Amino acid sequence: MTSDRRLRLALIGLGRLGAIRARILAYHQPRIEFVAACDTKPGADEWAANNLPASVKFYADPEDMMRNSGAEAVLISTATATHAALICLGLDLGLHVMCEKPISVDVVTTQEVVAKAASKPHLKFLVPFSRRYDDSYLNAKQLVENGSLGNVHAVETMCIDQQDPTGFFVTFSAQSGGIFVDMGIHDADIGRYFMDVKSGLTNPKRQVNRVVAFGQQAVYGELAKYGDADNGWGMVEFANGKVLTTHLGRTLKNGYEGATRVCGTKAHSIIGGNSTINRVEIRDEHGVRTATTPDAFTLYDRSFINDLAEFAGAVLDNSPMTCTPEDAFEASKIVTALQHSFRTGKPVYFDEDGLPIMEKAVEVNKKINGHLNGH
Ligand SMILES: NC(=O)c1ccc[n+]([C@@H]2O[C@H](COP(=O)([O-])OP(=O)(O)OC[C@H]3O[C@@H](n4cnc5c(N)ncnc54)[C@H](O)[C@@H]3O)[C@@H](O)[C@H]2O)c1
Repeated sequence: MTSDRRLRLALIGLGRLGAIRARILAYHQPRIEFVAACDTKPGADEWAANNLPASVKFYADPEDMMRNSGAEAVLISTATATHAALICLGLDLGLHVMCEKPISVDVVTTQEVVAKAASKPHLKFLVPFSRRYDDSYLNAKQLVENGSLGNVHAVETMCIDQQDPTGFFVTFSAQSGGIFVDMGIHDADIGRYFMDVKSGLTNPKRQVNRVVAFGQQAVYGELAKYGDADNGWGMVEFANGKVLTTHLGRTLKNGYEGATRVCGTKAHSIIGGNSTINRVEIRDEHGVRTATTPDAFTLYDRSFINDLAEFAGAVLDNSPMTCTPEDAFEASKIVTALQHSFRTGKPVYFDEDGLPIMEKAVEVNKKINGHLNGH
């Protein structure tokens, strides 16, 4: 049975993605009543007044909004390092929670949040991975499921942002967890989505055998002080032998490219091989050219509508959701291990509880500081 009432939802964070979410909530979600928006930065009230319907009440304090706006659900679109506390507060106040990826920058906090959500089964909790809500990825998933590709034994991804002359993500790095955690979580998730990483396991708790990562500061040398890279390569060996490889970057000149190759024994499928903004080609003295999408928000524009519609349906009708908290946790373990491998220069193995075995942070910090001092 489909409910005909609307979900009363409040939004926290009006940054790059939050501003897009706010417009979608206001104008493209027939099953959501957008009741309130919140951001702590100066000037956010003015932005909300100029861009959102008058019925959306602005709050400068997220707790005040969660308690007093009449919302029954909250969308968290703030910087990653703030997610965990806001998710837990929302759940404790009895709100359904949708939160942008990733839950946290570390495995322990992610595990605590997933446990908190599991302790409140009457509340919905969704961390949406954009590619799973994209029509082309859904189409490729059907090819996997109907056997057209044969046995899918490997997935190769590439995700490279357009080079940003302001270097915004350099300062963002301290809050984002680094390129593998921030960007690579989509790739870890999509590898798990296309490959059956749960079959043939001797220990069902341990889905990953080992990961290894490499990285560079090809353009933005300052990233070294955050233990971060502007180009990173990661390899993940799952415990049943499937393999994921990924190239992540922040330095592409023509725009944003996001591509995935699904390697099967009968066929390969490539999604987004040329991340064009439309189907127009220019043929001139330079050859054949197409325009690239400027960013991930443009390439996956429908995903940011589809995932919210799914969340509303899950709360209102109890319909199923595409991503589970377990998916967010498993992807988080992989990318935290990749970031660690890049920082330490060593592979990271996973233990019998399925957790990455990582050197103590103090050792890693010593290495980062040593690097900064030119050692
Ligand atoms: N699914 C995707 O493809 C995708 C794409 C981009 C970003 N993201 C995720 O979305 C989140 C936001 O990214 P962004 O690029 O919009 O960041 P951003 O820095 O542009 O915006 C974050 C906003 O949150 C506000 N904020 C921070 N802490 C707050 C708090 N405690 N209460 C209220 N407001 C607070 C900041 O003032 C800022 O306006 C990140 O976690 C990021 O990983 C996901």
